[in-house]
Amino acid sequence: MHRRRQRVLPRALESSKGGIPLSWKAKEGMIDPQQFRAVLGCYPTGVSVITAADADGTRHGLVVGSFTSISLDPPLVGFFPDKRSGTWPRIQATGRFCVNVLGADQLELCQRFAARGDDKFAQLAHGQTPSGQPLFDDAVAWIDCAIERVVEVGDHFLVVGAVESLGSKAHGTPLMFFRGQYHDLTCLAD
Ligand SMILES: Cc1cc2nc3c(=O)[nH]c(=O)nc-3n(C[C@H](O)[C@H](O)[C@H](O)COP(=O)(O)O)c2cc1C
Repeated sequence: MHRRRQRVLPRALESSKGGIPLSWKAKEGMIDPQQFRAVLGCYPTGVSVITAADADGTRHGLVVGSFTSISLDPPLVGFFPDKRSGTWPRIQATGRFCVNVLGADQLELCQRFAARGDDKFAQLAHGQTPSGQPLFDDAVAWIDCAIERVVEVGDHFLVVGAVESLGSKAHGTPLMFFRGQYHDLTCLAD
């Protein structure tokens, strides 16, 4: 029996030649970068500093909004560093990273670690995770990982970490990023 091919997109979004969905043409520059940023900026994220220390004690840190939980069994988390990041290759070389989930009162720390520079840790007191990675005193949560894999994805990498230890504060409001601005969180229901 002849079956009709299932439609991927509404007819209006298919091109006339060969029926290639227009959304697949992003590679040809049809998605406006400004619009991409504005639309994706409507998805609110938390803000974390990814930290690691070299064998000689040199510390590295990078702000990300792309941190996410991936798997419970096995326990995996991930984030997406930009290929242009100066800090990511140094963190990668250590084979480890710690995710410091920032609190709403840690905006200054966020700005410090979102700037390019070699000495982001200058005059900054902090603790360390069981494996020796920098751990910020007032982080809402921390997750210490061994790098499980790094996958090239477009102009970023996907970094997957195997969770080795973790913890959180009993209280604490996270720092949020939404539409290009920082926010804190209001609880709507208990
Ligand atoms: C709220 C916020 C979220 C960010 N998220 C990411 C991210 O997910 N991945 C990334 O590579 N850079 C992200 N950045 C930018 C980096 O923090 C910044 O480019 C980087 O720290 C530059 O320093 P580097 O060259 O030392 O890596 C973010 C910045 C801010 C302020």
